[in-house]
Amino acid sequence: MTVQGLGLPMTVAAPSTDGLPTHIRIHEVGARDGLQNEQTTVPTEVKAEFVHRLAEAGLTTIEATSFVHPKWVPQLADAEDLFPLLGDLPAAIALPVLVPNERGLDRALALGARRVAVFASATESFAKANLNRTVDEALAMFDPVVTRAKDDGVHVRGYLSMCFGDPWEGPVPIPQVVRVCRALLDLGCDELSLGDTIGVATPGHVQALLTALNEAGVPTSALGVHFHDTYGQALANTLAALRHGVTTVDASAGGLGGCPYAKSATGNLATEDLVWMLRGLGIDTGVDLGRLTATSVWMARQLGRPSPSRTVRALSHQE
Ligand code: HMG
Ligand code: MG
Repeated sequence: MTVQGLGLPMTVAAPSTDGLPTHIRIHEVGARDGLQNEQTTVPTEVKAEFVHRLAEAGLTTIEATSFVHPKWVPQLADAEDLFPLLGDLPAAIALPVLVPNERGLDRALALGARRVAVFASATESFAKANLNRTVDEALAMFDPVVTRAKDDGVHVRGYLSMCFGDPWEGPVPIPQVVRVCRALLDLGCDELSLGDTIGVATPGHVQALLTALNEAGVPTSALGVHFHDTYGQALANTLAALRHGVTTVDASAGGLGGCPYAKSATGNLATEDLVWMLRGLGIDTGVDLGRLTATSVWMARQLGRPSPSRTVRALSHQE
């Protein structure tokens, strides 16, 4: 495996045209969504180095870990050990963490977390599988979490899973998604992330959901997108969202990822694939693609298997 580092092959960088945003915020989820799904638990020190390398590559929002029940996600059971190892990162690097309930919030606040995320489901099946609650019971569980976090000046993201399809229930009706989105905003979430947890969305569906959300009074500025790449549609879906005006895109270095409680969830949109496309569109992200690729190659070695990202493979000649 070799890494070309900064000597990247060139794409023709066109100025950003046809209504695309000029700047995108990448919400990097590799250390959380990626590592929560690994068979083997990655050592805490390796996770800390991963986050540091991501920051050095220019990522400024790096989801670090989850304060969930350690038996539900053993891969992230070391959150208390990991978070202090990130204390030397510059204050400009945001380190959001997942908290499902007040117990999780207590744990996160005790360590000084300033950004938290609750995670709801648009479907009953996934709410039960992931949170042991109905959709509405989960929203009730988040209510005091959001209120307390906001009272403390902590930024709250609201994830919504299964926005497009669900492995148990099939295609998810748009009004069902809109209802839970509205409920999360009404709880007081600062931003939402629309999750295609099992990667079945296509661009037309993305456009239809974003339009329906706008019609229900949800502004595009409050929305981020979170695509998994099961059917190879994540980049196309992202472009559809950008055309709609979305400027927050979740991605995972090297395309790591999945959800242990969602059958058939594969890796997230790879951050490298996203940066490659944005670079070609002339949209600045501040990310050094060479350094990021080197990080994903390094992480792939730690995990003992090649990165699924096409861009990582192309730039590193990784087999
Ligand atoms: P439960 O079994 O219903 O828990 O699980 P409970 O509320 O009945 O509490 C049982 C015990 O767990 C109690 O202890 C609690 O204190 C303890 P006891 O009194 O019996 O000794 N407990 C905790 N301990 C530590 N930290 C906590 C915590 N909460 C309770 N936070 C629970 C409910 C929510 C805890 C569980 O279902 C859970 O942890 N689920 C997390 C699942 C998860 O992390 N999934 C992956 C993230 S979501 C995702 O990946 C999708 C996303 O990427 C977007 C997309 O792609 O769509 C975000
Ligand atoms: Mg996910």
